[in-house]
Amino acid sequence: MTVRALDSVDFALYRGEIVVLLGASGSGKSTLLNIVGGLDSPSEGHVFFKQEELTEFDDPALTAYRRDHVGFVFQLYNLIPSLTAKENVALVTETAPNPVAPEKALTLVGLGDRIDHFPSQLSGGDQQRVAIARAIAKRPEILLCDEPTGAPNLIANPLAAANLPCHRAR
Ligand SMILES: Nc1ncnc2c1ncn2[C@@H]1O[C@H](COP(=O)(O)OP(=O)(O)OP(=O)(O)O)[C@@H](O)[C@H]1O
Ligand SMILES: [Mg+2]
Repeated sequence: MTVRALDSVDFALYRGEIVVLLGASGSGKSTLLNIVGGLDSPSEGHVFFKQEELTEFDDPALTAYRRDHVGFVFQLYNLIPSLTAKENVALVTETAPNPVAPEKALTLVGLGDRIDHFPSQLSGGDQQRVAIARAIAKRPEILLCDEPTGAPNLIANPLAAANLPCHRAR
């Protein structure tokens, strides 16, 4: 059976905008975020980032787009279980040109005293906040959050991270 996860979707997002997407379970929210975030490609249609057409990118170009421009908070967090909270965030900041220090990002989401804990030692909401810290720590141009109920204040004010000094990863 063919699933039409998205159909006739047409919209534009602008710099500085905060957009909330509401829809029933299965209506295609995660699929849409995955496409905008360069994790999935639509079978038809066109997606643009600034002047460039994402739907024309090959895999290396999509990888670079995700690395350089996108912060993603996954619905199921996607933390690495064998790494601590700090190490999960550092995994992203190590390749970012202008990152926030992992400790600072974790402090922003209220986990400054839990940085050495593993995901299995954290509650579900804590784990999501680690995922949010990981996404904001590289100061992405686009922050995509799939059901980010764990830190609504921070999502509403993503510039909180932008004001922190740069941390150069070793
Ligand atoms: N890999 C896949 N293969 C086939 N169908 C899929 C796949 N992933 C999602 N779907 C289907 O695509 C539709 C949209 O799914 P999606 O995960 O985007 O919904 P959602 O709005 O994020 O739902 P939820 O609120 O439950 O997270 C659903 O019918 C889902 O069952
Ligand atoms: Mg979803």
